[in-house]
This record gives sequence, C-alpha cells and structure tokens, in this order.
Amino acid sequence: MEDYYSLKWMGHSLSMIDQRRLPLEEVYLEYTEPRDVAEAIRTMVVRGAPAIGSAAGFGMALAALQAQSGSSESILRDLEKAGNILKAARPTAVNLAWAINRVLLAAQGVSDVRETVIAEAIAIFNEDVQANIQIGLNGLELIPQNARFIHHCNTGALATSGYGTALGAIRTAHEHGRNVFVYVDETRPRLQGSRLTAWELQKLGIPFKVIVDGASGHVMRTRGVDLCVVGCDRIAANGDTANKVGTFNLALAARAHNIPFYVVGPTSTLDKNSPDGIAIPVEERGADEILTIEGQTIAPIGTPVFNPAFDITPHDYITSIITEKGIFRPPFRESIKMGTL
Ligand code: MRU
Repeated sequence: MEDYYSLKWMGHSLSMIDQRRLPLEEVYLEYTEPRDVAEAIRTMVVRGAPAIGSAAGFGMALAALQAQSGSSESILRDLEKAGNILKAARPTAVNLAWAINRVLLAAQGVSDVRETVIAEAIAIFNEDVQANIQIGLNGLELIPQNARFIHHCNTGALATSGYGTALGAIRTAHEHGRNVFVYVDETRPRLQGSRLTAWELQKLGIPFKVIVDGASGHVMRTRGVDLCVVGCDRIAANGDTANKVGTFNLALAARAHNIPFYVVGPTSTLDKNSPDGIAIPVEERGADEILTIEGQTIAPIGTPVFNPAFDITPHDYITSIITEKGIFRPPFRESIKMGTL
C-alpha cells in the first residue's frame, strides 16, 4: 500500500494527514474530540467523499469513548448529538450521513455500545479499502492498452480510506501493464489536482501532466484522450452525479469529442433518497478560495463571487458508473437498482 495515509484509527484517537498543506508539508494531526473532527472535515484537512465518511465514523467512535458512563440510552443520546454536529460539516458528500447513520443503527439495542461503535467505524474504513481495490479490478475491462486519461479533482488514497476510486482504477491499470498516461485537471479553486493528484501519481510512478481545467477541450482535440474518469460525492437514483465543480464541463467536452466519461465510486456514494440531481444539495464555499492564493489577493478588493464546490453531471452525459458491485450502464435507474439489491 501507500507510504502515507488519509486517516488512521490509533485506538483512542484519529490521525489524519493535513491535506491543506500538501504537497509542501506532510503533517499528521491527531484528533480526540468529535467536534474537532467535524471542523477538520469542514476546513478540508480531510476531504473526498469516502474519506469524509470514514473520518465521520471515527468521529462517532471518539464520541462513544467520551460518552459519560451510564445507560446505553444516555450514550446513544451523546452519539446522536455528535452525529448531528458531524453531519453539518459538509452537505454534498452523502458518505458523511451514510457513515453516521450506519454507526447509529449498529449501536441500537446492544449492551456494549462503545465497542460496537468502534467496531462499526473500523468496518466502514476496511470495507472502503476493499471496495476500492475491487473497483480497480472491475474497471480494467474498460481501460485499453496505452490509455490516455483525463482525471478531475483528487480521488486517490488521500480521498478515501485507502487505494482510491478513479485514481485507483488508473492505478490498477498501471499495475496491470496498460501503459497509462494521465492528464490531471488542476481543479480550481482548491487545486486538488495539482496539489494532491500530482503528488499521488508521482509517488505511484504513473506518468502525467497537469493541465488547467479550461484546457481539457483543447487536449481532447489535439492530443487524443481515450477516456475521462472522475469520482463522485453523491449519485442520485437516476445516475445524476454530484462531483467537484468542473466535472460537468469535462463531461460536456467529452461528449463533444465522443470520449467515454466514467464516474467511479463505491456504492456508499449512492443516494436512493435523491431521485435526481436537483435533489442534491450543492455546497457553496467562501469567496477567499477564489479571490486569494496562499493569502495573496488576486482580484480587486470587493469582487463578488459565486463559489459552488460541486456541480451535477446529468446522467445522459455518463457512459458508465464503475463500482465495487459492478459496472452500472444506462438506463441507470434500473442498473443501479439491480446492482444494489
Ligand atoms: O471538495 P472535495 O475535495 O472533498 O471534493 C472531492 C471530490 O469531488 C472527489 O472527486 C469525490 O469526493 C470523490 S473522492 C474518491
């Protein structure tokens, strides 16, 4: 596996790499308070839908460790409070609420609530790593020899409990000798592509070039691109997908050039309660992310900003969704339903 990790359970604390400081500094922070884990999710110390889910699971484990000794009911009340704080940290990635609800459900009606909660958080983490490895294997059939990819945002080990989703599929293809090459969208405004994906690809020894997000159409037209792979923060029941802002533009450019566009992620990112993309809440973040770089102002003082952190790619623009349970093809409402029975 990797010589770094997004997050690791240390028995009584949670260790997470501070992704805001990469690639310049590799610093791990230690968390013992669920409230601080929520803040780490909000400020993007940890980011990427599956990693956020795992972090929230361990946030619940910390809440269980802290809960006043007493009846199971009082521990459950403390857990619900912690769950509400964690859920409010970021709205779009459904893995966050999914993990918290899963932990809360496991804790119902058991005598050893603390042990159960910790075991469930560890299970969420381990299952995510296994799902990602399986996603990579499932994706192999779609990846040709000498494949040239465009990849958006960061979907590697950093964005997950380990291995990665879209980047995991690239990695598996690389490990199977497919001679892959990756054009990496830099991913404005937080630069997850140039800061994090480039860092991970370098460590994996996979050849790549960073491009600005607006270059993807030109790259498709002039360089040749075989496929686009992106992650996902929430997939609605009809296949509409929320992912890092810029994903939809990439899908439009891919459609214009007849290039397959694959969404890659674990089934924990499916939200059957959202019938379509309109139902998915899209996070808006602060103006500073756009108006400053490393604290330096890059626009006139007082410049107004609209900063949606995600966009919705309508299902019509998605060729297939690659999951650990198989490849879902259109019509997605049916294939998702059948694939996740
Ligand atoms: O704002 P971020 O960095 O948390 O957004 C991350 C993404 O959009 C990823 O592409 C998505 O979570 C999939 S990560 C495997």
